[in-house]
Amino acid sequence: MTSTPRSSTLDRVLVLEMVRVTENAAIACSKLIGRGDEKAADAAAVEAMRDALNQLDFDGTVVIGEGERDEAPMLFIGEKVGRAQGTGPRIDIALDPLEGTTITAKAGPNALAVLAISEQGGLLNAPDVYMDKIAVGPGYPAGTIDLSKSATWNVQSVAAAKGVKADELIVCVLDRPRHEALITELRGLGCGIMLIPDGDVAGVIATSNPDTGIDLYMGSGGAPEGVLAAAALRCVGGQLQGKLVFRNEDERGRARRWGITDLDRIYALEDLAAGDVIFAATGVTDGSLLKGVKRRRDGVITTQSVVMRASSGTIRWVDGEHRAHRHA
Ligand code: FBP
Repeated sequence: MTSTPRSSTLDRVLVLEMVRVTENAAIACSKLIGRGDEKAADAAAVEAMRDALNQLDFDGTVVIGEGERDEAPMLFIGEKVGRAQGTGPRIDIALDPLEGTTITAKAGPNALAVLAISEQGGLLNAPDVYMDKIAVGPGYPAGTIDLSKSATWNVQSVAAAKGVKADELIVCVLDRPRHEALITELRGLGCGIMLIPDGDVAGVIATSNPDTGIDLYMGSGGAPEGVLAAAALRCVGGQLQGKLVFRNEDERGRARRWGITDLDRIYALEDLAAGDVIFAATGVTDGSLLKGVKRRRDGVITTQSVVMRASSGTIRWVDGEHRAHRHA
């Protein structure tokens, strides 16, 4: 992992405070796990995350949020959060209060409450379009993956670097009709494919965890999720490249509004999340990264979170026990 100077701005924002924010969101939406209502689950997480952010002493700006101002009532892109506006450290925030709304509604695996922060300007202001992504975990030489090359080239490159055959690799892909050609190509190479229904932030992070068995992540998902996943990989190591995918003129216009001029650019990890970055996530439902929120018979709510920092590479796993009456 490259060493990144520790930011004094982020030093002033307590790392563990980030966990408080994602815990709050996860607990709030956990009441809606398996209730078949994506919107209600998302709304609960959004409101709780916003409340928690507004208790922190910083001058925060949401750069990746719930949508543009006219689309999202809360945590929209550009919204100011934190109670030290104009006086506290200026922080950019990428957030997804509930990554995996459908997963939560169906009580499936890997739903997360997620947040990343950087100094001002550290996180790409990505429009809410798709992003073509490729990611591998840590330990591979630079250049092992290359989004400008074919899936076959990338699989063979990772296999060679790992010292195995292509048919021994496991690739995680979102289960979508748009990935049919990719899946056919990977099957032709004999790769194992883990098809996930949703939740590609967890899918990308899974490449960094040998327990998951996943070597590579490939395919398109949300661009905001790409920035969040990049922030996580900046902390744990690994490589990711992303390219925005535009389906129409409206989407190209959105990108231009956020100051993106080269619409064909392939973004490397540091282009998506630069400088010192803190990433935090709390499990909503059980998954490969974290356990989900549980309600014990004694009225205690348990959570599991991870918070990590790019400059130090420190990863903290946080088990929380919360009194249910405070989250009624
Ligand atoms: P939501 O939590 O907003 O539902 O996003 C879930 C997700 O699966 C992301 O992880 C992924 O990046 C994106 O949706 C993929 O979009 P689509 O469902 O349109 O393929």
